[in-house]
Amino acid sequence: MTGWGAAALALAGCAGIAAAQADDAPEAAAAPAPRPGMPQPITMAKRPDATGGEALYVEYCAMCHTANGMGTGLLQRAGRPQPLLELRDNLPAAFVIAAARNGIGNMPAIPRGEVSDEQMQAIADYLAAGPHEVAP
Ligand code: HEC
Repeated sequence: MTGWGAAALALAGCAGIAAAQADDAPEAAAAPAPRPGMPQPITMAKRPDATGGEALYVEYCAMCHTANGMGTGLLQRAGRPQPLLELRDNLPAAFVIAAARNGIGNMPAIPRGEVSDEQMQAIADYLAAGPHEVAP
């Protein structure tokens, strides 16, 4: 069988399973309730008043760098006394830009097509001005 044939069969199989699940348990389609005690992800919905560098940080960095993000977890494991970037008072803008553009450790490089130089500068200035009083 060709690769495409196998892929088509696999897709058909998935659709069948999804349909069966939908029939058996329609309520499964709803978003799962958050587990009690688990930090919830930060999005603009949580920080509607954020502007400038903070808003850009929430948009491009917060998914990994707020309470239960992988960035926070790995920085904690690496022994940073403060793993939350927004609560730090020791992040020079140039370091933030270098880390984000080149990637650092397990953090992927963030290209200009995703975050422009102007936007990255605003994010870096925001972090360099920390610590910020935010609820991460
Ligand atoms: C896909 C997840 C992810 C995203 C998105 C992300 N980061 Fe990271 N970041 C990480 C991880 C993981 C590390 C820890 C790297 C390591 O040491 O392995 C990290 C580390 C860093 C560090 C180094 C901190 C230190 O003490 O060494 C800086 C600075 C940083 N990130 C800034 C940013 C900025 C600014 C953005 C948004 C423009 C961003 N990150 C977006 C995952 C991410």
